[in-house]
Amino acid sequence: METARRSLGTEIVEVIRRVTGQAGGTLPLHEPEFSGNEWTYVKECIDTGWVSSAGRFVDRLERDLAAYTDSGYAVAVVNGTAALHVALLLAGVEPDHEVLIPSLSFVATANAVSYCRAVPHFVEVDPLTLGLDPQRLHEHLRTIGERKTDGGLYNRHTGRRIQAVVPMHTFGHPVNMDALLEVCDDYGLTIVEDAAESLGSKYKGTHTGTFGKLGALSFNGNKVVTTGGGGAILTKDKKLAEWAKHLTTTAKLPHPWEYRHDSVGFNYRMPNLNAALGCAQLERLPDFLARKRELAERYRQEFESVDGVSFLVEPAHAESNYWLNAILLPQPDFRLRDEILQATHRHGFLTRPIWTPLHLLPMYADCPRMALNVTEELAGRIINLPSGPSILREEL
Ligand SMILES: Cc1ncc(COP(=O)(O)O)c(C=O)c1O
Repeated sequence: METARRSLGTEIVEVIRRVTGQAGGTLPLHEPEFSGNEWTYVKECIDTGWVSSAGRFVDRLERDLAAYTDSGYAVAVVNGTAALHVALLLAGVEPDHEVLIPSLSFVATANAVSYCRAVPHFVEVDPLTLGLDPQRLHEHLRTIGERKTDGGLYNRHTGRRIQAVVPMHTFGHPVNMDALLEVCDDYGLTIVEDAAESLGSKYKGTHTGTFGKLGALSFNGNKVVTTGGGGAILTKDKKLAEWAKHLTTTAKLPHPWEYRHDSVGFNYRMPNLNAALGCAQLERLPDFLARKRELAERYRQEFESVDGVSFLVEPAHAESNYWLNAILLPQPDFRLRDEILQATHRHGFLTRPIWTPLHLLPMYADCPRMALNVTEELAGRIINLPSGPSILREEL
């Protein structure tokens, strides 16, 4: 048994070597690539002095993002967590509301709910998409949901209003949006998409982040395109976009010199310097996506002949950006998972496990939730592989 387990780690190392062509050194999980106009645009900011909270690149990035995703409007902010925070506020999330989110997510999804002084309510995921499971959500809401005369949906156990649902497109793989839209329609729930990982991913031809009332993107250094740190709020609603802009720029009323603010705003605006990097990165996105798809296809083919793991492919009707490639063990086995992580790290391949499910973190342990068996099992099955766009750079 021990020998078989050790050899699976070795086999995986060999596959990563064959696919990436890397035999020595370190291969990070997802490295940024700066092969376009990044330096030119950033230098322009420095040369002109427009490095901070105003400048042409912020406006351009917002226009480019809206055009690329067909979202209508985009508002650039300091990071994806801030984007989610403000998106939730604009979706009407208030203190003591509950917000339905997958437990299988990065902690920022739950933290953004907490920043609104609302309560995360954890929902099960679908093992095929790794994202929120609409069918299970529907069954759960049938049991715990109660419509009141104000039109709101309430949790009959806690008495709190359930205001919104946040599907998160894990590793770039889109949630089953048709089924989710139907459930949300039935129960009057507002959708705010956590599309932090899924810029460039589509469900039935439509960009993730544009299905809900609002969507949030992240441009952290490990994402498919980066601004260093950054994020954006997407919405089709002009008024919401204007309000998002206002709230994220300290709610300052326009005036050449007066400091007047009409609500408690946030200093969340993306600096021009970061936006400059983002504009250049966005120009490169189609090429990054093509190389990432090719990388995923090579991993898929190579893992076909490896017993004991399966490679995660994009769901039906979806086009994933394959942000992070992932393999799955047939059943949860934390020991084997950690042995594989150790073996790959020993050879310089910086693989990662999936996040600890959020309902198992101390600050979220008492939050309402449904049965989360699939989530807990997946935590012991998933390993992410090096996935950066540069891996196939020389070759293609
Ligand atoms: C699912 C998810 N939500 C939210 C975030 C938050 O984005 P940021 O790190 O830009 O705040 C991230 C990524 O970091 C993420 O993976």
